Amino acid sequence: MKVVIRREQKKDIEAIRQVHEAAFGTPAEAELVDLIEADGHAVLSLVALSEDAVVAHILFSRLNTLESRGLRASALGPLAVMPGLHRRGIASALVHEGLARLQADGEDLILVLGDPDFYERFGFSAKAAQVFQTPYDGPNLQALALTDAGRLAQGVVRYAPAFSKIT
Ligand SMILES: CC(C)(COP(=O)(O)OP(=O)(O)OC[C@H]1O[C@@H](n2cnc3c(N)ncnc32)[C@H](O)[C@@H]1OP(=O)(O)O)[C@@H](O)C(=O)NCCC(=O)NCCS
Repeated sequence: MKVVIRREQKKDIEAIRQVHEAAFGTPAEAELVDLIEADGHAVLSLVALSEDAVVAHILFSRLNTLESRGLRASALGPLAVMPGLHRRGIASALVHEGLARLQADGEDLILVLGDPDFYERFGFSAKAAQVFQTPYDGPNLQALALTDAGRLAQGVVRYAPAFSKIT
């Protein structure tokens, strides 16, 4: 399916909220997106448009890697696609575009909490995440290093405070 991907604009806020609420079936992820953005912790926010309507959204937020000063790390998520438009490659297109933009901007490391069957195709690995201590440790926490500094990183990772306000 043909979609256009671009950075979030102010006019998209309500549509983004609706995508998350519809995809997850609860307001929690939409509230998380609002909080992360209000706190100024968003690193990259992209929307997918079909016929000028927002049909999917991906957010990357700042992570604090306490033992690797200067490292640029971010968390992928929430990610949501409008129900009815699943399995058409829209989420994959958003993930690929997000990772490409972050790599071009010099981001070192991305963490994601999600299904490894989905995220492995982008290069994420649960094994690579085992060197980190986060509130979400376990088989669904996966890491993708984009630079040598990212590959050498380890230790305690703090998520944006919004995550603990919601979950
Ligand atoms: C998960 C979600 C974002 C996937 O969106 P999508 O646009 O359907 O994904 P894509 O079409 O790019 O899927 C790409 C591949 O992943 C597979 N896939 C999709 N969702 C999957 C899932 N939950 N688990 C495992 N594989 C999945 C698809 O089968 C497809 O595989 P294929 O290329 O071999 O056919 C979408 O289902 C959604 O919004 N779900 C509700 C919110 C959610 O769970 N978000 C994820 C948070 S981590």
